[in-house]
Parts: sequence; C-alpha cells; structure tokens
Amino acid sequence: MDLKEKVEDIKQELEKFQVSSKDELEQFRIKFLGSKNVIKGLYAELKTVPNELKKDFGQLINGVKVAAENKYNSLKGGESGEKKSALGEDFDFSRPAKKVAVGSRHPLAIVRGEIIDIFKRIGFTVSEGPEIEDDWHNFSALNFPPEHPARDMQDTFFITKEDDENKEKEMALRTHTSSVQVRVMENSTPPIRTISPGRVYRNEAISARAHCFFHQVEGLYIDKDVSFADLKQTLLYFAQEMFGKETEIRLRPSYFPFTEPSAEVDVSCSICGGKGCNVCKYTGFLEILGCGMVDPNVLEAAGIDSKVYSGFAFGMGVERIAQLKYRVNDLRLYSENDIRFLNQFKGAK
Ligand code: PHE
Repeated sequence: MDLKEKVEDIKQELEKFQVSSKDELEQFRIKFLGSKNVIKGLYAELKTVPNELKKDFGQLINGVKVAAENKYNSLKGGESGEKKSALGEDFDFSRPAKKVAVGSRHPLAIVRGEIIDIFKRIGFTVSEGPEIEDDWHNFSALNFPPEHPARDMQDTFFITKEDDENKEKEMALRTHTSSVQVRVMENSTPPIRTISPGRVYRNEAISARAHCFFHQVEGLYIDKDVSFADLKQTLLYFAQEMFGKETEIRLRPSYFPFTEPSAEVDVSCSICGGKGCNVCKYTGFLEILGCGMVDPNVLEAAGIDSKVYSGFAFGMGVERIAQLKYRVNDLRLYSENDIRFLNQFKGAK
C-alpha cells in the first residue's frame, strides 16, 4: 500500500469513527492525537517520499491532522468548552478548574465561639432569648424601677406591639442579654450556670466607638454560697484562657442596678504586657467587662429565694474582645461587609 492510500484509509477511519461515551472519546484521542497516534506514523513515512512530492503529501497529512483535532474538539464540546458536546457534556477535560471562592468566618463569630468554648469547659450552658423584649425582662425584673435614672444608662429603642386583644404594648429592642438570664431564672431552679450570647441594641449615633447594635456574652451563676471570690476566679480563668496565661485582672467598683456590689474588670494589656502603650493609654490595663453579685431583688423577682441562694453575673461585649484580639479600632468595620476586611480572617479557627 503506498502512502497515498494509507492517508486515505486513515482519513476515512477518522470520519467514520463513532463516539458515544467518554471512553470512546478517549480511544479516539489516543488513536488520532495521542503520543503514538497513527498520523505520526504517516509523517514518519514522509521521509520515503521523493523530494518533489514531499510538499503535497505533507499538506495531505496536515489536513488529516487538522480534521482529527477539529473532530475531537467538536465531540467534546468545542475548544471553548462552552458548547454542549456530542456526548451531552458541557465540560472540557483540558481546561483548568474554576476557582471556588472560599469565604471566611466573621471575626465576631470566631470570638463569640471562643468565649462560649471557654465557659463551656467550666460547666456553663448556653441560653438564648428574644431580641424584642418586654419592659419586665429588660428592666423591671433587673431592679430598674420605673422612672429610675439608671434606665438612661442604656439608650433604648422602644417600639409598640399590638397584642392579641389589639391593645398596644410597649416593647423594646433588648439593650443587654441580661434579659435572657431573667428568663432562665424564671424557668429553672438553681444551681444555674449559663451564658447568654446575642445581639443587643442601643440608640447611639454610629461612630468608630459606638454602634446602634453590638453583641454580648453575659454570664450567670446561682447556687448556695456563691461568693465574690468565685466571681473573681471565674473571670481570671476566662481572661487567661482568652488573652494568655500571664494575663492579670483588676476590678474597680462600679454600679449596675442588678448587681450589688458591682465592678468593672480590666485585663492587663496584652499588647505591651502591662508596661504601658498607646492602646492601653499608658495605664497597662484595658476594660473588658462589667460584673457583680446578683442583687437579692433580682433573685426574688425571678422567684428564687435570696436567703438560700446567691449568685454572680457578668457581661462583656464581643466587639470589644475582638477589638483587643485583632486590633480592630473601628466598630463600623464589623457590619460593613467589606470583603477586604473579612478576607483577613481566612483560616482563623
Ligand atoms: N448588662 C450589663 C450591660 O449590658 C453588663 C453586666 C452584666 C454588668 C452582668 C454586670 C453584671 O452593660
């Protein structure tokens, strides 16, 4: 058989080749385009052709090669891979895979999870409650008498709700998750050891340092003989788990209607190690939370005998802890959904 016949044979074989599965497509590729394909054999034989015919034969074989490539591309869906192939598949095996954009967890979710984990390790449960609260759970049960100036400590968003009898009822967006703790106290009997994470709202102008909503984790521990020493030790444990074993805490007297005595808690500055820097304003300490012994009035309002039981409570802002951990100094960044900010938390646990 001379070369011309061989070329003709392969051309015909190519045209007749039927493909109805991925395997057959691969057989086609191996035969006509693979590293030991039949067309290569034709080129090898070109050496035996007289010089004056080389050009014509070369073009003939090139034609077969291009036909093989075209047929292969159209069978698998065209070069762009966008058209449907004869196999009904619309992908191109040779294209690089599409990159899947993997998101990141939100820094507040990361920090909230860490706080919860720390308290779970010492036996605290997690409790949640509604963001739209009544006056009782957000204020009255927490020893804020009506008209008491302490209500102004937390600028409140008030809303009205129609009840079942079409009567208007004053409600509020909860200003703290202490409201959840009231619900827990009303619905269970001591010992109680729970934390309540959640979003809270305050009517404040939005700036780098204040926002109309933020996130808290508040804690409550009620049992017989709970003392201030238990509170201090629990908070020291938390601070050291969160910011490092060498962290120290400092308590300053403060006021909250629902705790007596009350304190504000500072941790030694994790940035300068307590020596003084611009983050801690050269004091060596950073304020992180409020706490105190649950006021007997609060226990009684929730139906717990304050002569038998005592307890402590504390509350912290998740944004504040995240700010110290990640040095984020503008609160607005947490809710702007700027991908350049969020991407920095990729890979954080
Ligand atoms: N509920 C307080 C606040 O939101 C924090 C707090 C909780 C203080 C428990 C003392 C005890 O500011």
